[in-house]
Amino acid sequence: MIRTAFPILFLLLIAFPVKGQDTEPSTGLLLSGPEHVTPKPCSHELFDGSFSVTDGIEYFIMTGGNIEDTADLEAEIAALPFRTAKAGNRKDAGILISIGTSRQGTVPMSDEAYVLNVKPDGIRIEARTAAGAFYALQSLIQMTGQSRHIRCCMISDYPRFGYRGLHFDVSRHFRSKEFLMKQMDAMALVKLNRMHLHLTDAAGWRLEIDAYPRLTEFAAWRPYRKWSDWWTSGRDYCEAGTPGAYGGYYTGEDIRDILDYARRKHIEIIPEIEMPGHSEEVIAAYPELSCKGRQYGSSDFCPGKEEVFSFLENVLDEVMALFPSEYVHIGGDEASKANWKDCPDCRKRMQEEGLADVDELQSYFIHRIGEFVNSRGRKIIGWDEIMQGGLAPDATVMSWRGTEAGLSAAKSGHDVIMTPNAYCYLDYTQDAPFKEPVSIGGYVPLEKVYSYEPVGPDMDGTAISHILGLQGNLWSEYITEDSKAEYMYYPRAFAIAETGWSRAEDKDFTDFRRRALDLTEMLGKKGYDTFDLENEYGERKESLSPLKHIAVDAAVDYSAPYHRQYPAGGEKSLTDGLPGGWSYGDGRWQGFLSDMDVTVDLGCIKPVHYIGATFMQVNSVEIYLPEKVLVSVSEDGQAFRPAGAVYRDLPYTADGLYFRTYGLVCDENCRFIRLHAVRSGEKRGWLFTDEIVVN
Ligand code: ACM
Ligand code: ZN
Repeated sequence: MIRTAFPILFLLLIAFPVKGQDTEPSTGLLLSGPEHVTPKPCSHELFDGSFSVTDGIEYFIMTGGNIEDTADLEAEIAALPFRTAKAGNRKDAGILISIGTSRQGTVPMSDEAYVLNVKPDGIRIEARTAAGAFYALQSLIQMTGQSRHIRCCMISDYPRFGYRGLHFDVSRHFRSKEFLMKQMDAMALVKLNRMHLHLTDAAGWRLEIDAYPRLTEFAAWRPYRKWSDWWTSGRDYCEAGTPGAYGGYYTGEDIRDILDYARRKHIEIIPEIEMPGHSEEVIAAYPELSCKGRQYGSSDFCPGKEEVFSFLENVLDEVMALFPSEYVHIGGDEASKANWKDCPDCRKRMQEEGLADVDELQSYFIHRIGEFVNSRGRKIIGWDEIMQGGLAPDATVMSWRGTEAGLSAAKSGHDVIMTPNAYCYLDYTQDAPFKEPVSIGGYVPLEKVYSYEPVGPDMDGTAISHILGLQGNLWSEYITEDSKAEYMYYPRAFAIAETGWSRAEDKDFTDFRRRALDLTEMLGKKGYDTFDLENEYGERKESLSPLKHIAVDAAVDYSAPYHRQYPAGGEKSLTDGLPGGWSYGDGRWQGFLSDMDVTVDLGCIKPVHYIGATFMQVNSVEIYLPEKVLVSVSEDGQAFRPAGAVYRDLPYTADGLYFRTYGLVCDENCRFIRLHAVRSGEKRGWLFTDEIVVN
């Protein structure tokens, strides 16, 4: 018995390749190859035979043109999962890299392109630039991470989009430079090339500015670590060094270290300085920059005051002196503009500049900052609100509230980076909320991120050329720990990377998921916390099949309208038989910013034994369960009699996502059913419901 065990095991290994890997028939070796590269390469050919990398394999780098410094590439070679040594001449090299030499004829015409050739006698990499060779090495790191035996192949690869980004909200929670560098390693592995640093926001200013020391002595510190504790407890700041002060900031020296590391990883760092909204922390430090001149109570700069522009220009000058990026992100989202209407300085500015409303005042503000940044030879990026009141000529739009704004800006000749929240917001939960950490709401699983296509269906070549690329955003209100940030990024950042690099027609989720599993395992071994993709639960089960009940297709009369932002399926949504999923934004949940008061018409009098509706609570975005639901019924639609009431059984303070069905069992004969969902006097946020069920 014992003697037969080994041959059986051996046969099983040959017959069942591990995780999509093939074995070479002549040798029985487990092979890796282009099918293990993420993002999926543009094209590859497979040939007979294989090459096995061994410890001590020698490499040689040949450079042409003005490329001299190869230290960055040598650092990547050192990251290969086997030991390497520098060859004395090219003939001895098992890995031969040629950059910018005359051998580049077959390399696609792109700065980031490469050709990677695996032959029985060695590996050849050709690229026009160091970036191309760097990306070839990332492909090799991934392939050799699966097996040291690589099938003979030729990969010819270049990116679909030039901008492939990941966003880091270091305001809500400060992250160390070491954390950022670690994430750059993971980004580079999947050929992501832009790191957007959200450096300033109400929760803390994170960049040392010599001209304004209070930004880092005071506005970078708060008395609460948990963002929600701070948000609900007065939102004030404290002096650096106060016992328990939470926060931090990057010194100029830190930024130089970050930039140096990023350069080696072929990543451009894009700094964001928020304006005119999301600026509570600046106003707390320098109250004279707000309309009312008060330390607390305003989130916006005052566009009427000249000292606001001097302040921002001085800050931006220091930012541009530190960061060499082509772009500076100037925020521009969610300005409340609340004080602008009544501020004498703002009114004077509007009069002098002939501005019709506060949207035009915001546009004046962004144009002026844009011109200043342009005068320094740089360009601005702003969130899509910068389009309100007229877009500055050279501005690039970061489209986040959907895809419409971005696509229309691209069609009208503006550069755009797509980050639509329904696909690219990595702070939304990636799996069933009951098993996930508390998050801001929304549901963006890996497959949803992967399904995103940045180019609109009706765009011509010129419009398409204005789509610079895409970015995954991780707002960090609920992401205190570094480990949780990694958990939210990976594997969804891989999907952003593949959409940014690979051809749309080559994308295939099943194949991508297999590679994403390999990559999460690889990152896990390197000490990253990643989401457990293997044990993903998936969408809310109730939403997967339509409901059958006697009110399906019944007409619904609204005493108060649903909100235009969340119509779901419109007037018939509450009786369309389609229950909602985990996200209030999935087009099945109907939203109300008032009580919900609706009457369902069954068409004729029927026996009714059950009436119910499900509501959700996500207190982080002010969606609350109703205080109570009052149900009444009628035969004629005029005289209603109460059928019962159902009361809320969950506190408003419960963090996370909750569903509650307000259902009552009854014994009625009626045609009309009225449900009045009453909001609390205490919490008058949103109500969301998906279906009124009658049986
Ligand atoms: C944003 O999410 N407010 C850009
Ligand atoms: Zn003002």
